[in-house]
Amino acid sequence: MKDHLCCCHEESPSGDRNARRGFLGQAIALLCGATAFLIPTAVGVATFLNPLRQKGQGGRWMRLATLDTLPTDGTPQRVPVIADRTDAWTRYPAEPVGAVFLRRSGEKVAALQVVCPHAGCTIDYQSSPKGGAFLCPCHTATFDLQGKRTQTTSPCPRDMDRLEVEVRNNVEVWVKFESFLLGVASKVPQA
Ligand code: FES
Repeated sequence: MKDHLCCCHEESPSGDRNARRGFLGQAIALLCGATAFLIPTAVGVATFLNPLRQKGQGGRWMRLATLDTLPTDGTPQRVPVIADRTDAWTRYPAEPVGAVFLRRSGEKVAALQVVCPHAGCTIDYQSSPKGGAFLCPCHTATFDLQGKRTQTTSPCPRDMDRLEVEVRNNVEVWVKFESFLLGVASKVPQA
């Protein structure tokens, strides 16, 4: 009886180690599986809940600036988009629903969505003596000032989304503000 107890006592540490390894392996596999499932799901849910999907918000012409408020040297200006938003139950008056980068060149203006086409993060503008660039902080996609991808292999499937712009009465900058599907190579407006 004593020998038997002694034998069991000696085998226990390696048995524990094997059990721990097995548990760790299962936990890692579970984590990988959960990550593979949750990331696309989160992108899908975020896309679905995006305020611009709400009725009446997508593809809407909005007056976002006047020419005299934009730098004449082409430096991008980040402009918030303020609009009423309505969901199934509630109307939210005049709240931020997004933003655009506006770049003025003479009397012309170009507009780019700040939303990264990869997974929907907000793109930043970083100035530099060479003229600056756009950078997405989530997966480090980079774009030039026209919104074109600058990496040989970019995590982003397409360039930044350009928006239609009109300068009305030689002063007012109107933008057709809309959102596009994320994670796809072509620019497809959200429904
Ligand atoms: Fe912008 Fe991934 S969300 S690079």
